[in-house]
Amino acid sequence: MKPLSFSILSLLAIFLPFSWAVSNSIQENFYECLTLNSEISIPLSTAFYTPNNTSFNSILQSSAQNLRYLVPSVPKPEVIFTPLLESHVQVAVICSKELNIHLRVRSGGHDYEGLSYVSEIETPFVIMDLSQLRSISVDIEENSAWVEAGATVGELYYRIAEKSKVHGFPAGLCTSLGIGGHITGGAYGSMMRKYGLGADNVIDARIVDANGRILDRESMGEDLFWAIRGAGGASFGVILSWKIRLVRVPKTVTVFTVTKTLEEGATKILYKWQQVVDKLDEDLFIRVIIQVANATKEGKRTVSNSYNALFLGRIDRLLQVMNKSFPELGLQKKDCVEMSWLKSVLYIAGYPSNVPPEVLLQGKSLFKNYFKAKSDFLKQPIPESGLKGLWKRLLEEDSPLMIWTPYGGMMSKISESAIPFPHRNGTLFKIQYLTLWGDADKHSAAKHVDWIRKLYTYMAPYASVFPRQAYVNYRDLDLGMNKNGCTDFVQASVWGTMYFKHNFNRLVHIKTKVDPDNFFRHEQSIPILPISTMSWGEKFDRW
Ligand SMILES: Cc1cc2nc3c(=O)[nH]c(=O)nc-3n(C[C@H](O)[C@H](O)[C@H](O)COP(=O)(O)OP(=O)(O)OC[C@H]3O[C@@H](n4cnc5c(N)ncnc54)[C@H](O)[C@@H]3O)c2cc1C
Ligand SMILES: *[C@@H]1O[C@H](CO)[C@@H](O)[C@H](O)[C@H]1NC(C)=O
Ligand SMILES: *[C@@H]1O[C@H](CO)[C@@H](O)[C@H](O)[C@H]1NC(C)=O
Ligand SMILES: *[C@@H]1O[C@H](CO)[C@@H](O)[C@H](O)[C@H]1NC(C)=O
Ligand SMILES: *[C@@H]1O[C@H](CO)[C@@H](O)[C@H](O)[C@H]1NC(C)=O
Ligand SMILES: *[C@@H]1O[C@H](CO)[C@@H](O)[C@H](O)[C@H]1NC(C)=O
Repeated sequence: MKPLSFSILSLLAIFLPFSWAVSNSIQENFYECLTLNSEISIPLSTAFYTPNNTSFNSILQSSAQNLRYLVPSVPKPEVIFTPLLESHVQVAVICSKELNIHLRVRSGGHDYEGLSYVSEIETPFVIMDLSQLRSISVDIEENSAWVEAGATVGELYYRIAEKSKVHGFPAGLCTSLGIGGHITGGAYGSMMRKYGLGADNVIDARIVDANGRILDRESMGEDLFWAIRGAGGASFGVILSWKIRLVRVPKTVTVFTVTKTLEEGATKILYKWQQVVDKLDEDLFIRVIIQVANATKEGKRTVSNSYNALFLGRIDRLLQVMNKSFPELGLQKKDCVEMSWLKSVLYIAGYPSNVPPEVLLQGKSLFKNYFKAKSDFLKQPIPESGLKGLWKRLLEEDSPLMIWTPYGGMMSKISESAIPFPHRNGTLFKIQYLTLWGDADKHSAAKHVDWIRKLYTYMAPYASVFPRQAYVNYRDLDLGMNKNGCTDFVQASVWGTMYFKHNFNRLVHIKTKVDPDNFFRHEQSIPILPISTMSWGEKFDRW
């Protein structure tokens, strides 16, 4: 199964018949290289799509979440390759390196800036889409599971619940996320206050490195294994599969959603939420979804705050916890619903209550939009005056959306350097800002992006400082934008510090060691050290 080495490949290229040596199209060269290097044949008709194929567009669009990156003016790949076997992933890495064709890797396609299916820095490029590598094997006895990169978190939750009603996994709320990309940036969800992130619960991984080798935890070593659990995707290698540790969930959990508008005292209640939310019982996760809604039939707009919660326990105890810690919300028994953990996954993801859990096996997304998003981490409550200014700005936008996610609990107990994700103790909550729109028009995109940038400026006084922190899974290409002609590395240090704090430094050193040619790269991949700042040892390794 081992693919041929580079030198053999180059030799072959020289001695190959005419058709290979003359410059064919990128598609032909790539396909020929894959076939040559693969001992197991690669079926053209199910794994290799060029713009000539009628299904090319539907494959390209299949899992892509941000419609902004599908408009005609955005660059398109020469090829979409959908490996059927791990060895196909190896040869794709080897061939794109050998042929010098830029490679993008896609698992679930939820990247906020479309980095898994669009390259705006380098063309030509090809996409390797891992959606056909999605097997899941759950081992309840060992309390673990191996999950291939192309599986969605919804499929994973379903497969766990199929084997046990008291096991779960603490990853994302949106069920169409690809486990491959999702865990590379952290992966938070409604059990984070009890169990931490998805990435905190990874115990092994199989990756393909820049040389086309398959490595597991033991063979990659602890530095690289540390880096892949939080540095964001596509900087260190291609994740083939994660081995995860399952967590305990009760047979019965409780959910609720309680909405308050400005007219119903939303501002005061949200002020209180900010003061208590990181200290609540770890079994309780209450996020706030903030939108603009109609206050009256005549169309007067207002801001609505929806308190959307999962409690790892039953109603009676939930009501006691709420009465003690957050009575201002006025939660009542009739607001609460008891259900299995798997049903709560569907509830939090926004499915109607009559949808059967099998819907998770379709891996379909409920969210496809033209959108732009940003994130902040808050260490102090925003005063009511600040909230009022925020409402004013939301009311000026067509479809704004904010999601406030509570921290504390287990998130505070894990050290900032345990994995690259550094947003831990001292964080009260995270804000995600979004603006959504419905058309491909350039001007409307510019208008909405401008709005969210101004909102981000308005929020600066309330956000964390030195650095102003951001979540790498909410990829934001505005951060560290090159304004004053600073070098790429200086620019990267800006977003690198925002996403990873002091861990950025270690990530750069590991990157320099394991991928010195910077094969795995994109608009915000971890950079290699500029040669002038390398230690002697690193220079030695490099030459
Ligand atoms: C609607 C929506 C809801 C979301 N909800 C949550 C949430 O609840 N919690 C949360 O933490 N995040 C959430 N996110 C953010 C999400 O975690 C990130 O977008 C994540 O990167 C998605 O992974 P993916 O595989 O689906 O995306 P992709 O777009 O396929 O990949 C994301 C990045 O990882 C790289 N990558 C993909 N696969 C691999 C691989 N196998 N090996 C190496 N690199 C790879 C890609 O090249 C890209 O740079 C949400 C995003 C959306 C759009
Ligand atoms: C794509 O087109 C090529 C050449 O026309 C053809 O051989 C191949 O089977 C097609 N692949 C798919 C997936 O339709
Ligand atoms: C794609 O189609 C065009 C026009 O039909 C043709 O000229 C070209 O050779 C085709 N490319 C491939 C890779 O099949
Ligand atoms: C709000 O009211 C406006 C005007 O009556 C209407 O067009 C819009 O669809 C309503 N929006 C919602 C979310 O109900
Ligand atoms: C809340 O707690 C107070 C005192 O601790 C008690 O008097 C009251 O009945 C409780 N309310 C509910 C709804 O449990
Ligand atoms: C978190 O930080 C606070 C304040 O600095 C400190 O008192 C507390 O002990 C820390 N908690 C943990 C779990 O480290």
